[in-house]
Amino acid sequence: MTPNTIVGIIGSGAMGAGIAQVAAVAGHSVVVYDNNAAALDKAAANLKATLMKLQEKGKLTDAEAIIKRMSFTADLQGLAACGLIIEAIVERLDVKKSVFAQVEQVVANDCVLATNTSSLSVTSIAAACTDPSRVMGLHFFNPAPLMALVEVIPAIQTNADLIPQAKDLMQQWGKLPVIAKDTPGFIVNRVARPFYGEALRILDEGIADMATIDWAMTELGGFRMGPFTLMDYIGHDVNYVVTETVFQSFFYDPRYKPSFAQKRLLEAGWLGRKSGRGFYNYAQGAEILAPTKDEVLGKQIFERILAMLINEAVDALHLNVATAADLDTAMTRGVNYPKGLLQWCNEWGTAQCLEKLDELYHLYHEDRYRASPLLRKQAIGNKKIV
Ligand code: NAI
Repeated sequence: MTPNTIVGIIGSGAMGAGIAQVAAVAGHSVVVYDNNAAALDKAAANLKATLMKLQEKGKLTDAEAIIKRMSFTADLQGLAACGLIIEAIVERLDVKKSVFAQVEQVVANDCVLATNTSSLSVTSIAAACTDPSRVMGLHFFNPAPLMALVEVIPAIQTNADLIPQAKDLMQQWGKLPVIAKDTPGFIVNRVARPFYGEALRILDEGIADMATIDWAMTELGGFRMGPFTLMDYIGHDVNYVVTETVFQSFFYDPRYKPSFAQKRLLEAGWLGRKSGRGFYNYAQGAEILAPTKDEVLGKQIFERILAMLINEAVDALHLNVATAADLDTAMTRGVNYPKGLLQWCNEWGTAQCLEKLDELYHLYHEDRYRASPLLRKQAIGNKKIV
C-alpha cells in the first residue's frame, strides 16, 4: 500500500463515494465499482460536482486532475489492477461474503481487501476468502471526507504486518487511525451505545421527557446534540439496527438492550429527520417541545448517562478492545464527544463514577448496571483509570 496503489471501492453509496473522494484527493487512482448502474452514475456526477465546488471555495486547486484519476465501472473485472479494495456495500453478511469471494478471484494475490462494515464481524467476512490474511476492517465515519477517524480492525486471520501499513496509509490520507479489536461495534459503535440506550431507558421510565434529556446532555453535559435529536438525525433505520445487531452480537448482554420506544418508531416509518418525523415532529408549524430546565433533574440525567458511557469505555479498555489513547481519540473524533471518556472518568473520579453505577445497580438489580472490574479496582483509593 503506497501512494501509487490503485484503490478500488466497492459500493458507490454515501460511504463508498466519500471514501473514493478521500483516496483520490490523497493522490491515488481510484476505481469505483457498483452493481447498480444508476447508483454509479449518480455517484460519479455528485463526486464531480463536489470536487468542483471545493475548488471554487479554494479548498482544492486540482479538481480536474482528481476527477481524471477516478473511474466508474459496473463490471467487477474493472478492479483487477487494484492494490487495495475498500468495500462499502449493503450491511449484510451474506452479500459481503459473496462479494469478497468474487473480488478475490479478480485481483492480484497481494491486493489488500478491506471492509467498511459498521457492525459485522470482519473475521467472518475474511473467512469467505481463500487468503483471509489479506482482509481487514477500515471503518470510516460519515461523511468520510470530513470525519478524521478511521477504525483499523485486524480480523483474527489478518497478517499483522498489514496493520501498521494501513495505519500509515490512513495518515497519508489525512485521517486519524485507531486500532480496534474485531468485537461488535468496534470502538465507537460499542462505547456510544449508552448515550442512546440510557436516554431511552430514562424516557421509558418517565423520569424525564426527551426535550429535557436532550437539554441536560447539551447544556449540562456539553454534547453537541442530545440523544433524541441525534437518533432522529442518524435515522432509526440505522441507529436502531446497529443497537439490535450489537445486542445480538454480544449474546444478548442487557447492557445493549434495545428499546421498544425506538423500535416502534422504525415500525411506523418515523425514521427521524429524513422522513419528517421521529422522536420529534419536523413538520412546519409542529409544536416545539420545551425542556423542563430543572438543574437537579438535569444533573441526575447527565450523570446517569455519563456513568454508563464511562463504564462502557473502561470495560472496553479492560477487555483490550483498544488502547486508552485510541479509546479517547475515537470518541472525541468519531462522534465529537466534548471529552474522552477515560479522561472524563479521571476528572470526575473513579470512586464517584462507581458510586453512581452501584446506586443504579442496587436500585434495579440488573446486570445492565454492573461496573467494569477495572473501574471497581481503580475506585479503591480513587485511583485514575490510566
Ligand atoms: P448505501 O446504501 O448508501 O450504498 C451502498 C451501495 O452499495 C449502493 O450504491 C448499492 O448499489 C451498492 N451495492 C449493494 N450491493 C452490492 C453488491 N452486491 N455489489 C456491488 N454494489 C452493491 O450504504 P452506505 O451508507 O454507503 O453504507 C455502506 C457500508 O458502509 C455499510 O456496510 C455500512 O454499514 C457502512 N457504514 C455506513 C455508515 C453510514 O453512516 N452510512 C458509516 C460507516 C460505515
